[in-house]
Amino acid sequence: MQKKDVFIKIEGLKYAYEAEEGQEQTFALNGVDLEIHKGEFVAIVGRNGSGKSTLSLNMNALLLPTEGKVYVDGMDTADDSKIWDIRKKVGMVFQDPDNQLVSSIIEDDVAFGPENLGVPSEEIRRRVDEALKAVEMYDYRKKGPHLLSGGQKQRVAIAGVIAMRTECIVFDEATAMLDPLGRKEIMSIIKTLHSEGHAIVLITHFMEEAAQADKIVVLSEGKKVMEGTPADIFENKAELEKLYLDIPFAVKMAAALRVTASRFFQFLFRLPVILFPERFRQFPPNLFPERFQFFSVLFIRAVHDLRIHQLGDMGVFIFGVLPQAFPARAVDIMPHAQVFLDKSLSQLPSAVIVDQDQQVQV
Ligand SMILES: Nc1ncnc2c1ncn2[C@@H]1O[C@H](COP(=O)(O)OP(=O)(O)OP(=O)(O)O)[C@@H](O)[C@H]1O
Ligand SMILES: [Mg+2]
Repeated sequence: MQKKDVFIKIEGLKYAYEAEEGQEQTFALNGVDLEIHKGEFVAIVGRNGSGKSTLSLNMNALLLPTEGKVYVDGMDTADDSKIWDIRKKVGMVFQDPDNQLVSSIIEDDVAFGPENLGVPSEEIRRRVDEALKAVEMYDYRKKGPHLLSGGQKQRVAIAGVIAMRTECIVFDEATAMLDPLGRKEIMSIIKTLHSEGHAIVLITHFMEEAAQADKIVVLSEGKKVMEGTPADIFENKAELEKLYLDIPFAVKMAAALRVTASRFFQFLFRLPVILFPERFRQFPPNLFPERFQFFSVLFIRAVHDLRIHQLGDMGVFIFGVLPQAFPARAVDIMPHAQVFLDKSLSQLPSAVIVDQDQQVQV
């Protein structure tokens, strides 16, 4: 990925909530350094109480650092005079949509954010319509939010942030209260917003969601303990388990398939020995009859070019799209995943696992 401009820069951030009477002050964040680039999609994961929400609230000056600095597009969040400029840059969507909807009519609700930012009224009209269309809630615009389902309310809350046209949107467990379909719909809106150039910060307990980010940040006890691409992070299974975090189903499955695939190829390579043992009694083995020599050279060349681990990927592909080769596991595998090749064989960098529409690069 090309190096992009830093959008949010967090330096040595410590945050302590007001201590109760007689209690010692403890740091909810204890020295976090983090950069979020323009247009980047960053997932933040960690156990309950690890400091994710506290971190996100520091990203748009809803909380101010006890120590350290947070800069949004170069502006210090501790600078009072910049607070509204910062909130024009970073929008927030929270877990409970009921706490975010304030008006009795949906379109008024979506207009609330831009009104606060001082956007002219004709412009607000345009933005509200556009935002409601983006989350497919335009037809409900005259209705009251109390008539909506949780997922629909969350879509309206997102429309409110879209209408503010912030460059970055922070979602703090925005899908936590939704069913799998509702979660999928919100994730698809998030991915669209990302593809349109918004930076996304996604706080989630669902690793399948985190796997879709450009970068995953793992928090533990107020500190950043891991940071990297989903592939890097999920490779550290042991470390994640220590932090009581899971790896996504699709990644587990890919690993299982990879092992299976490499066993399959081992078997394939051994097959000639099994079928034609007499040919292997001499050294070098007389592998192919004379007239097939040409093909054997081609085959060996292809193996050489593809390198062994990519053969593993090929196996993943084969087993994924040909589940009948694996009748016993097909029932487990197919409802959740199909595996297919990313590009042409010559550009075989990896396989892509699709878990119910959620793409995971492995
Ligand atoms: N308003 C508050 N007053 C005092 N302490 C708080 C407050 N909010 C959070 N904390 C404490 O700060 C720490 C970090 O909390 P935070 O809400 O940031 O964690 P989190 O990672 O978002 O957790 P969760 O996954 O449960 O949402 C916790 O120890 C929590 O008890
Ligand atoms: Mg939280």
